[in-house]
Amino acid sequence: MKRIIIDGGQEISGTIKISGAKNSIVALLPASILTNGKCVIKNVPDISDVRILLEMLEYLGSVVSFEDETIIIDNSNVQNKDITEEFASQLRASYYFMGSMIAKFHHAKIAFPGGCVIGSRPIDIHLDSFRKMGIKIEEKVNEFIMDVDKLEGNYLYLNFPSVGATINIILASVLAEGKTIIENAAKEPEIANIASFLNSMGARIFGAGTSKIIIEGVKELKDGFVEVIPDRIEAGTYLIIGALLGNNLKIENVIESHIDSMLYKLKEAGVKYKSCGNSIEISRAKELKPINIKTTVYPGFPTDLGQPISTFLTQCNGECLFEETIYENRLRHIPHLNAMGANIKVFDNKALVIGKTPLHGRKVKATDLRAGASMLVAGLIADGRTEICNIEHLLRGYERIVDKLSSVGVKIELIDLPE
Ligand code: UD1
Repeated sequence: MKRIIIDGGQEISGTIKISGAKNSIVALLPASILTNGKCVIKNVPDISDVRILLEMLEYLGSVVSFEDETIIIDNSNVQNKDITEEFASQLRASYYFMGSMIAKFHHAKIAFPGGCVIGSRPIDIHLDSFRKMGIKIEEKVNEFIMDVDKLEGNYLYLNFPSVGATINIILASVLAEGKTIIENAAKEPEIANIASFLNSMGARIFGAGTSKIIIEGVKELKDGFVEVIPDRIEAGTYLIIGALLGNNLKIENVIESHIDSMLYKLKEAGVKYKSCGNSIEISRAKELKPINIKTTVYPGFPTDLGQPISTFLTQCNGECLFEETIYENRLRHIPHLNAMGANIKVFDNKALVIGKTPLHGRKVKATDLRAGASMLVAGLIADGRTEICNIEHLLRGYERIVDKLSSVGVKIELIDLPE
C-alpha cells in the first residue's frame, strides 16, 4: 500500500511543468483503434490509467511504444475481443471502448466501467444516444453487449452535457452513415482535443468545444496525430498550492483560458499572479478574503478542482460557501479536513467553511483521486507531519507528483508498504 508523508509549512519556489491531460489521453487511446493505421500521440502523461489502457490496446492487438512522452500505436492487427471486468473495472474511461468498438466492429462486449466512487455515475445518456443510432444494447448483470447492423447518424439532444457521453457519441458516429448532431454537448477542452485527433485521421467533426457538435460520417480513417493538451486540473491544483505557499512559483505549460474560472476565484480571494506566455507565476497571499465556489460544467468552476479548493477555503478569513453540483458524493474528504483542524459544516452537497483555521498534520485517507489532492494541499500547509494513505488514487491523476513537489522545496516522500 502506497502512502505519502509530508512535512508541511515549507515555502515553495521554482518551476513545475504541467503534464498532458489525463481526461484527454484516456479517451485518445480508445479512439485510436478507429483507424487501422498508425497513431502518434505526444505530450502523454505517464500515469497508471495510461498504462492500463496501453495494456488493453495490446490485448486487442495494437502494437504500442511509449517513450519520451510519445505514444506510437500501430493498429493494423486490432481484433474484436471482449473487454472483461478485469480491465474495465480498473478505470472509468474503459467505457470509451464502447463507442470505438461498436463503430469499428459493429459488435462490442464490455464489462461495466470502474472509477472513483463519487456518486452513482449512471451512463444512461451514453446508452440512450447509442440506441438512437440503431445500436441494440443488452445489459447483463455486469456487462453490456452491443450490436448494430447499420450504424446511423441521428439528432441527439443530451439531457445533461455529459463529458463521457459527448466523447462516446463522437467515437460511435465518425464512421456512421450520415450526419450526427449533438445538441447540449459538453464543452470541455478535452473534447476538442479528441476531435482534433480524429479529424487528423480524416474524420469530419465540427463544433467540438461548443454545445453543438456535428459529425459527418466517413468510410474509413487513416493515420492520426495529436498533442495532448496540458492538464487543466493538474495546473489548477498547483496554482492552489502556489497561492498558499508559493514564492514566485512558476507553473509552466498551462493554457490560461482553460482555467479562467479558477484564476478568477483566486484573484477574488486576493491572490496575485503574473501570466507570461504559457506560464503563470504565483505567490502566496498574506491575507485571503472569503469566496464562494460552486462547481459546474465547463467553462464553470470544475468539479475536479472542488476538493482541492475546499482546502484553500479553510485559509480564507471568514465564511466561504462551497457547493458541488455535478456529483452527489464528492464531500467525503471533509471529515478528514476537519480532523486536521478545519471548521467545515456539511449540509447536502454544500459545505460552509469557517476560517481561517490552522491545520495540523496527522494520518488521513485519500478517499478518491481529487480527495487525495485535497489532502495533499492540506498536508502541505499543515504544521507537523501528514501521512496520506490510499494514495494510489492520487497517483492515477497526477504524474510524478512527488518528484514535482520535491523539486520546488517540499519535504515529501512516497512510501510503498506491503499490505
Ligand atoms: C468526466 C471526467 C471527470 C469529471 C467529469 C465532470 C473523464 C475520464 N472524467 O467524467 O474527471 O469530473 O467529466 O467534469 O473525462 N451522468 C448521468 N448520465 C450519464 C452520464 C453522466 O447521469 O449518462 C451524470 C453523472 O452521474 C454526473 C454528471 O452527469 O453526475 C457528470 O458526468 P460526466 O460529465 O459524464 O462525467 P464523466 O465523463 O464521468
